[in-house]
Amino acid sequence: MKKKLISIFVFLCAIIPAFGEILAEGKTKIVRPYPEDPTLAIFESKDDITAFNGLKHDAFQGKGEFANQTTCNVFRLLADCGIPLAFRKQLDSHHFLGEMCQMIPYEVVVRREAHGSYLTRHPSIEKETVFPKLVVEFFLKTRNLEGMGVPIPRHDPLFQLTDSGGELFLPETPIEGQKPYLILSDFPLKDRPALFEEIALMAKQTFLILEKAWQLENARLVDFKVEFGINSSGKLVLADVIDNDCWRVVQNGQYIDKQIFRDGGAIDKVAELYKYVTAATGRFTLPCNQLILWRESESDHVLK
Ligand code: C5P
Repeated sequence: MKKKLISIFVFLCAIIPAFGEILAEGKTKIVRPYPEDPTLAIFESKDDITAFNGLKHDAFQGKGEFANQTTCNVFRLLADCGIPLAFRKQLDSHHFLGEMCQMIPYEVVVRREAHGSYLTRHPSIEKETVFPKLVVEFFLKTRNLEGMGVPIPRHDPLFQLTDSGGELFLPETPIEGQKPYLILSDFPLKDRPALFEEIALMAKQTFLILEKAWQLENARLVDFKVEFGINSSGKLVLADVIDNDCWRVVQNGQYIDKQIFRDGGAIDKVAELYKYVTAATGRFTLPCNQLILWRESESDHVLK
């Protein structure tokens, strides 16, 4: 018995430092080192829920668990589909293991329908207008960005790469007739412009996979936000998390994601939806369909 207690104590001593030191902490997650491999890190989801850049904040029991489980469900499906990911494996209810990446400071939004900030930028477009070709937008994450050489007067702008440089636009102002409020000559990925294309392609492929997964749950994925990083081998990977905070999903005419929280829904209702989405994403699997190609023989075309 005494021996057993000692070994439990030794085990706890070995893992507690790993859960102690913090590499980074955001509004909803904490990143800690993974002692066995410095190229990996442990990602923990917190019970916090925020909106409008942290201006609205709340928390509910279970949020961290739902967020971690949803992210792991989503990344498992994406891994099965061959999307290059920073995600490695789920560790427990609140943690997953992922690659340490140099994060690329753009939020990449993909849209199948017009919702949210798109409507304010395009006031003539009706809500829920379907885009037959996916729309991809880049928003520059300016909050922790240094070395740009100029102060950024308005954070997290819409970013457009042009021959003149990186053009910044107000995301909540009609885009038609709007002149860029700043043109950056230096911006992230300036020296690797091909990566913009690569990121857009990977974001669209990811969207198509999750759109199908949600269709099988009788719901519409209408938009999402993803982030990318460069891992220790120099490879572009889909990083960060994809949970119920990062997308809009419509089922029976209602949002079942964070939009309910943004719109002032009761926190109990929000918690119920997050629980529902955790269960739904738990059913995300790669369908084992067979594709049968049936071809006539050449002789069938010979008319006698
Ligand atoms: O607000 P907007 O329409 O631009 O959001 C597009 C998508 O990006 C939504 O699914 C939203 O949940 C997500 N998003 C996010 N984090 C942000 C901004 C938007 O996950 N900071």
